[in-house]
Amino acid sequence: MNIKQTDNACIAHTYARFDVALVKGKGSLVWDETGKEYIDMAAGIAVNTFGYADDVWAKAVAEQAATLQHTSNLYYTEPCARLAQMLCERTGMKKVFFSNSGAEANECAIKAARKYAADKKGEEYNVIVTLTNSFHGRTLTTLAATGQDVFHKDFTPLTPGFVSVPANDLAAAEEVFKTQKVAGFLMEIVQGEGGVMPLDKSYVTGMAKLCEAYDVVLMCDEVQCGNGRTGALYAYMNYGIEPDVVSTAKGLSGGLPLGATLLGKKVETVFTPGSHGSTFGGNPVCAAAAVSVLERLDDELLSEVRRKSALVFDTLSGQPGIEAIDGLGLMIGVKTTKDAGEVIKECLANGVLVIKAKDKVRLLPALNIPDEYLIKALAVIKQAAGEGTA
Ligand SMILES: Cc1ncc(COP(=O)(O)O)c(C=O)c1O
Repeated sequence: MNIKQTDNACIAHTYARFDVALVKGKGSLVWDETGKEYIDMAAGIAVNTFGYADDVWAKAVAEQAATLQHTSNLYYTEPCARLAQMLCERTGMKKVFFSNSGAEANECAIKAARKYAADKKGEEYNVIVTLTNSFHGRTLTTLAATGQDVFHKDFTPLTPGFVSVPANDLAAAEEVFKTQKVAGFLMEIVQGEGGVMPLDKSYVTGMAKLCEAYDVVLMCDEVQCGNGRTGALYAYMNYGIEPDVVSTAKGLSGGLPLGATLLGKKVETVFTPGSHGSTFGGNPVCAAAAVSVLERLDDELLSEVRRKSALVFDTLSGQPGIEAIDGLGLMIGVKTTKDAGEVIKECLANGVLVIKAKDKVRLLPALNIPDEYLIKALAVIKQAAGEGTA
C-alpha cells in the first residue's frame, strides 16, 4: 500500500504532515517505511510517556484488552476505580471525571466551573477567563477558551462567555473579575502550543489568591504539561498552588486516548447523575494503561526528568544559532536564529524528530529517553541550528 498517497486521498487535510510514514517504534527510536531510524524528541506531542511499545505499558494494555475491554459507564470496573484513586491520592483532589481527550477534559472543567457558579451565585455568573496565547482544544467551546484568534477564524460564532487577558498581568485579570460575572479562570502553567512559555511564579500564585478572593474556580489545563512532563507530577505542583480543577490527557495513558478532569473540594459535588457523561470515558484498557504509567511516575523518575532537562538546557544554551531556551522539565522550546521550520526539516533529514511551537523548535521526548539518544539528538539539533549562522 502507498501509505502517503492513500492518506492524502482519503483523510481530511487538517494536518500538515511531515513526509514520513512511521511503521514501528521501540522506546525513543522509531522507523519509517523505508527502514530509516529516528530518535524521537516529540513523543507523539507529549503522549508516549515511556516511548513506543514500552514493555510494561504494552503488557498492561494487552492483559486488559484480553480481559475486559469496555463495559460502558453503567458498570463499575477496577482499572477505572484504581486510576481515580491513584489520581486523588497523588494530588489531593476529591473526584475524577474521565473522558477521551484534552478538549473534553477542558469541556468538563468549564462545565464544572459554570455549574459551581450557577449553583452558588446564579446562572449569570458564567464568564470564563483565559489567557491570550493559550491553547485549550478544537471543540467550539475550547476554541472559545483558546486565546489565539488564528484558531477562531471561520468557525464563529463560538460558545459565548469567554474573555482572554494577557498572561502575567494580574491587574488585567482582576479588572475582569471586578467588572464581569466570572465563574472560572483557566490557565496552562506552561503554555505549550503558545511557544512553551512557563507562566511567572508570582503570577500563578497571585492568580490563585485572586480566584480565592473572588470565589472564582481556579482551573489548570495540564493536558500537555501534566503527567511528569515538567519534573513534577503536575506542573502546578512546581508553583505551590492548589487548583480547584485540573484537566489532563496526552501523557496520562502513555499512548491511548484518555482525558481526566480532577475536581477539588470546591467543585467535588457539582456533577450529579445525568449532568455529564462519556461513552468511552474511563475505558478499562486506557485506564489500565494509565495506571501502569502513573505507577512509574515516582520521585526517582521525576528527578531524572529534571536532570535530563538540565542536560538539554546546558547542552544548547549559548550555542551558535540558538537565541533562547524556554520551558520546564522535558517540555522545552528552543528559539533559533534560523527559521524553526528549516531546523526541524534538517533534524528530520538527520534522523531526529522535533516539532514546532510558534516560532520555536519544541522538544517533548519520552520521559525515560536514554541519555545516549538524548545526547545524540541534541548534537543533531545543535548542528541544524548552527550551520551557516555562526
Ligand atoms: C494545553 C492543551 N490543552 C488542550 C489540548 C487539546 O487536547 P486534545 O487534542 O487531546 O483534545 C492540547 C493539545 O495540544 C493542549 O496542548
